[in-house]
Amino acid sequence: MTMNMVDIIRKKRDGYVLSREEFAVWVQGAVKGEVPDYQSSAMLMACFLRGLNEDETFDLTMEMLHSGDVFDWSDLEGTVVDKHSTGGVGDKTTLILAPILAAGGLKVAKLSGRGLGHTGGTLDKLESIAGLSVDIPEAKFRAQVRDIGIAVGGQTAELAPADKIFYSLRDVTATVDSIPLIAASIMSKKLAIGADALVLDVKYGSGGFMPTAADARRLAEAMIDIAKKAGHKATALITPMNQPLGMAVGNALEIAEAIDVLENGTGARDLVTVVLSLAAELFYNGGKAESREAGLELAKQLLESGVARDKFYEMVKAQGGNLDFSRLPKAPLVVPVTTPKAGFIAGMDALAVGRTALELGAGRRVKTDVIDPAAGLVLYKKCGDYVDKDEIIATIHCRDARQAAAAAVMLSGVIRIEGEAPEAEAMVADIVE
Ligand code: URA
Repeated sequence: MTMNMVDIIRKKRDGYVLSREEFAVWVQGAVKGEVPDYQSSAMLMACFLRGLNEDETFDLTMEMLHSGDVFDWSDLEGTVVDKHSTGGVGDKTTLILAPILAAGGLKVAKLSGRGLGHTGGTLDKLESIAGLSVDIPEAKFRAQVRDIGIAVGGQTAELAPADKIFYSLRDVTATVDSIPLIAASIMSKKLAIGADALVLDVKYGSGGFMPTAADARRLAEAMIDIAKKAGHKATALITPMNQPLGMAVGNALEIAEAIDVLENGTGARDLVTVVLSLAAELFYNGGKAESREAGLELAKQLLESGVARDKFYEMVKAQGGNLDFSRLPKAPLVVPVTTPKAGFIAGMDALAVGRTALELGAGRRVKTDVIDPAAGLVLYKKCGDYVDKDEIIATIHCRDARQAAAAAVMLSGVIRIEGEAPEAEAMVADIVE
């Protein structure tokens, strides 16, 4: 019996469970252009409203994964690891984490993306280093991973093309925020990279992808379930994004902060904690440490000893970047933001801070926007810190005085100062394995 797309849509619409074969008809048909966008849109809405059980979510993911190229690292000696973050504000973890992992003997083949909206992209950040290229042909990318254990580049192969089709339809049909669809979307791309061990950083809070830790946990469980069924080792950390991660938001500014952490072996507590915790998972799952605790110790030692810093330099050099970081782009205007009163920083809406940086030119509103690598902001205080009245709490980096003034007003409006110190937030709220 040949399966008809209308019957498959009707079956899901009426709440029945779909088979792998039925997902195959849809996904393969969509990629070949035989299933039109209006039928895929109807299917996505049916999946959104009726939900997908664990097996269906897995089957959909597998079909999406096999809709394009799948990397094979079996010719490579060593354990290939990968990390995925659901995105946040000031999230420069990859820049510090990847060299730590490579310094510890793991192979890091990181395909990253560009920023859109209030979340930044690792590629944009790296490109603020003079000469550094992220457009690495596949053969060179593989050779770099083999020879120095680390490469961070953009996507050249066609990974999960079905996701590209479905994601652009979900974006305009109000079907993005469905846990099974998000899990299938992310995991189809991640599994196509073919890492032996994967760690997911699922963020919640005002600047995170999911509103609450409980939602983030549900998404993490759905993704880990897929990884397990596919035979991959994966764990997920649930981490807060209620204030920017670390101090800097903006491309060159974040690179500078990441280099600072690598050079000094330390930095903002929240940033370093997340980086070391992610590293611990991969050292443990990638067979370099007997336990999570031992993985954490190894990560700390590689960061503090400067071995990770040297690995970062090696990567920059291999990708054509200039190691004279004093040449990072700098904004002509650096405007201080001062506190209106004394007290403890009780909150800092991460989304609003991210949007402020976006307005300054650090991000893209639409894909075709050109970013200003020098633009952004640097915070000097974090939640829980005490500040005096008129103390400089941040600096705004941009080209235009009017823009700077508007950003300063916006920023002082989103930093809440209160009489009592807030309760400290755990940087790793949960681990899903
Ligand atoms: N990111 C993705 O890659 N896919 C989603 O569905 C949501 C976020």
